[in-house]
Amino acid sequence: MLQYVMKGGNPLVGEVEIAGAKNAALGILAAAIMTDEPVVIDNLPDVSDIRVLLKAIEDIGAKVERINKHKVRITSDSISTVEVEFDYIRKIRASYYLIGALLGKYKKAKVALPGGCNIGTRPIDQHLKGFKRLGSENTIEEGGSILAQAKELKGAHIYMDMISVGATINVLLAASMAEGRTVIECAAKEPHVVDVANMLNSMGADIRGAGTDVIRIHGVNKLHGTEYSIIPDQIEAGTFMMASAMTKGDVTVTNVIPKHLEVISAKLSEIGCQVEEGDDRVRVIGTPVMTHTNIKTLPYPGFPTDLQPQMTAVLSVSSGTSIVTESIFENRFMYVKELNRMGTDIQVEGNAAMINGVSKLTGAYLTAPDLRAGAALVMAGLTADGYTIVDDIKYILRGYEDFDGKLRRLGANIVAVSNEEEIKEFKQRY
Ligand code: UD1
Repeated sequence: MLQYVMKGGNPLVGEVEIAGAKNAALGILAAAIMTDEPVVIDNLPDVSDIRVLLKAIEDIGAKVERINKHKVRITSDSISTVEVEFDYIRKIRASYYLIGALLGKYKKAKVALPGGCNIGTRPIDQHLKGFKRLGSENTIEEGGSILAQAKELKGAHIYMDMISVGATINVLLAASMAEGRTVIECAAKEPHVVDVANMLNSMGADIRGAGTDVIRIHGVNKLHGTEYSIIPDQIEAGTFMMASAMTKGDVTVTNVIPKHLEVISAKLSEIGCQVEEGDDRVRVIGTPVMTHTNIKTLPYPGFPTDLQPQMTAVLSVSSGTSIVTESIFENRFMYVKELNRMGTDIQVEGNAAMINGVSKLTGAYLTAPDLRAGAALVMAGLTADGYTIVDDIKYILRGYEDFDGKLRRLGANIVAVSNEEEIKEFKQRY
């Protein structure tokens, strides 16, 4: 089993280039199969969730050519089935985007129910409700697949009962090729929703209002090929900004859109860090003593739930008492017991964590319960005295490209290991 072993204590210093946004890429790859013409996608992050989706796209008959590590050409004129029931597809939650894409293009899709990180029950009722409003009949098949099919898809007025990134993107995909006008009310406004809409528009779709809470779509009969470059990853950038703060370092994240990072910049400034914004970069300079603050996760432009564990880690070593409230997912504090094993003082009650800042952390043997929590544990390990091992890093690899390599280049002592021998070697070296 792959693990990270690290020795804490080094401040992170230098520049780190941020990869393309994983969550945008997942929607964009699904959109790419909606035309028979070639689609070239650039700035694709090289992470396992993306590799899984590309494999599924290939396994239903599309041609996937790797132009380089971050660029692919997808040609979908040879798709031979709308059934995506491979066992491996359940590993990624965004498999559900194949329902929207295939339903839009072929009016039929059968996709194995999504998995993903274990951070709550994560229903998909809003996706299904959206498809139903467009005229799809949805059934849950034995074995846990969703079959969605329609004689024809017709534009509709859809009120989302809650703000959902996934449901907004999924309905965007299907409605792009529905007949007539669709209006999505209470749409998610996340940068990756806008990116998927921009990509679909570059394929000939007619989507307006992405980035606001009402999106209007005029369906088209056909989409065409395009070349599209994915936006930078807000969450990866935020993670490195917070890692800089936590290790009292000086890190500049490059290839970013500072506007997408405003809430993180604001919170890090609030606790005493110096934050400097450039055109496509943000520099975070740590401070010897960070102070407390309160955080509540909210849909964009609020504080992202995907940065909640990392911010909790930062606040665990900031003076005073901070409260972090999780309002998106009900099961997103599982990592707290791991952090507490390093000496943090965090109590979770319901959907809130009360954090009493401590002055030092001690290295420990930890297990990453999910992707973003995994990153938070690594950040804590890099701040702690002594050695930390973060076990079972498969979750982290789902969403961070070359995480340990990027951290090493900023001065961290961290490597990925797969056995005791390699851990021993690491300990001899550092
Ligand atoms: C996406 C992101 C994930 C991020 C989340 C919130 C991807 C692949 N994943 O997940 O990293 O943490 O947005 O920013 O882009 N809900 C329902 N019914 C639905 C859909 C959602 O009840 O049909 C609930 C969820 O349980 C959750 C909330 O709505 O409480 C928001 O979920 P949603 O925005 O849909 O998250 P995902 O798209 O799954």
